[in-house]
Amino acid sequence: MTFTPKFDPKNTPDLTGKVAVVTGANVGIGLETAFFLASKNATVYMAARSEQRALAAIDQLQSRLKAIKVDTKIYYHHLDLGSIKGVRQSAEEFMAKEDKLDILVCNAGAMGSMWTPEFTYEPMFQTNHLGHFAFVTTLLPLIERTAAKTGDVRIVMTSSDALLVVKEIDYDAVSNRPANADAPRSIMTFKTFFDCYGRSKLANMWFAKELDRRIGDKGIWVNSPHPGFVGGTDLGLELNDVVPAFVRPIARAITRWTGMSWADGAKTQLYLVTSPEVPAHKIRGRYFSPRVSWFNYFKAPRDQKLAASYENEEEWKKLWDWSEEAVKKELAK
Ligand SMILES: NC(=O)c1ccc[n+]([C@@H]2O[C@H](COP(=O)([O-])OP(=O)(O)OC[C@H]3O[C@@H](n4cnc5c(N)ncnc54)[C@H](OP(=O)(O)O)[C@@H]3O)[C@@H](O)[C@H]2O)c1
Repeated sequence: MTFTPKFDPKNTPDLTGKVAVVTGANVGIGLETAFFLASKNATVYMAARSEQRALAAIDQLQSRLKAIKVDTKIYYHHLDLGSIKGVRQSAEEFMAKEDKLDILVCNAGAMGSMWTPEFTYEPMFQTNHLGHFAFVTTLLPLIERTAAKTGDVRIVMTSSDALLVVKEIDYDAVSNRPANADAPRSIMTFKTFFDCYGRSKLANMWFAKELDRRIGDKGIWVNSPHPGFVGGTDLGLELNDVVPAFVRPIARAITRWTGMSWADGAKTQLYLVTSPEVPAHKIRGRYFSPRVSWFNYFKAPRDQKLAASYENEEEWKKLWDWSEEAVKKELAK
């Protein structure tokens, strides 16, 4: 019998006693992910680079939780994914304060970042992929200890259908700062930025697959969701310099209007990190996206089949080895 995944927030089990980390949770899809987990009584850590933005978001979430009579703690945990040394320290600090980690949502993402001097690698690749690679691999001992006790740890690496614009990872483009990196950008360079973003999202998905393959059958369920097209988030605001000022509010209004809500955008990853269907149906190393209705309302999560070229274990392994080496070099600086 074919299995059709279903996500019903009302039937999500209570998460009391579970510890969750959501990266990039101060806005957008991550904010709604954190809210839902907290509303089910998980202890949630909002891993973010700006304490000010995170604390403002936590205040907002606490008011919403109070309104539904839920008394859960949401904590700020400092994490700047652009700095690999900082990421390592952040993961170590987390392990010093918590003795378990049940749910890890690697949701933070940047689109359109400039290649400023602090980046060794292409900025979106360094932030979206390498930062998360360093964070997750440092946390692995804690994750494995948790799984040994509970048999159920969930990890998602939030990806995007933008990965479909690239077929492979060009390691030269990721590693070599282009000669025109500081030149003013224009709308003509938009495609270049979208390719960089797509490459980082392909890396998120391949990392999830390779992580799952290496972990094997230990009760750690690693998957990669595409949230859908979600309107009015901060994603891509870094590209504002290539968009004429009068177009910006119009573009934002159009995406809010035509895209999914933040809460609907969170549902595919929430399914993967909370649904009992995941262990029951051994959902591991998969790429999920939402089925949507007219006007982009979330209907259900969907196990999305990708072309064979994306299912190449040699590529996953190559990415892992390259990333390990890159992290080692950054830490040695
Ligand atoms: N929106 C969509 O239609 C869509 C579609 C497909 C996939 N996605 C993916 O879904 C995820 C969430 O997207 P969103 O639309 O909700 O984006 P968003 O509103 O821009 O939120 C992104 C989050 O990532 C954080 N972040 C960026 N750079 C960071 C860094 N160096 N260190 C730590 N945190 C950092 C941001 O923090 P700051 O507030 O500090 O910048 C923010 O909290 C992303 O991975 C994105 O690629 C989104």
